[in-house]
Amino acid sequence: MIRPITHIGNPVLRQVCDAVDPGDVASPVIQGLINDLVDTKRHANGAGIAAPQIGVALRVFIVEVHNNPRYPYKPEVPLDVVINPEITFLTDDRYENFEGCLSIPGLRARVPRCPHIRVTGLSRDGAPFSKEERGITAGTYQHEFDHVNGVLFPDRVQDTSSYCTWEEFHARYEEGFRDEVASIVGRWGA
Ligand code: NI
Repeated sequence: MIRPITHIGNPVLRQVCDAVDPGDVASPVIQGLINDLVDTKRHANGAGIAAPQIGVALRVFIVEVHNNPRYPYKPEVPLDVVINPEITFLTDDRYENFEGCLSIPGLRARVPRCPHIRVTGLSRDGAPFSKEERGITAGTYQHEFDHVNGVLFPDRVQDTSSYCTWEEFHARYEEGFRDEVASIVGRWGA
């Protein structure tokens, strides 16, 4: 079911979300939440979405990038469900991602992100996993992980002069950022 997306100002986006009891992952409540995240993300053309963005303060997010019109330069990512996520940085390097958020309509800005991370958590069937993510995709995971900790991308913006509307991004910055993405992917992988 497509659910309404919460917007910045809604306190649910500022909560440190509760962990899911591993014994509840198979329950209709959690499986239904995951289905709603998938439906809502696809409908809104997000690259990812976290449970508080549909008003549920639980530590669950999904990532999926496939022919994304909002982020046409992002490498493809098959649907991934992450429950009770943890992220470890595997390098001190940082790059600048140009981020937007379904919960902050109209706004984008540069956000420093780690280009090589380890993501651990439970998958949709409750199995523990641990994997590495790189480059632009690593940035997407960090953005969604921030959501379950009540953190929004403007909290991490250092170059505040990079704030722009989507229209100005497309008109002025997207072409240059595509070159940056190619270089980030070339150095770190997707
Ligand atoms: Ni977001």
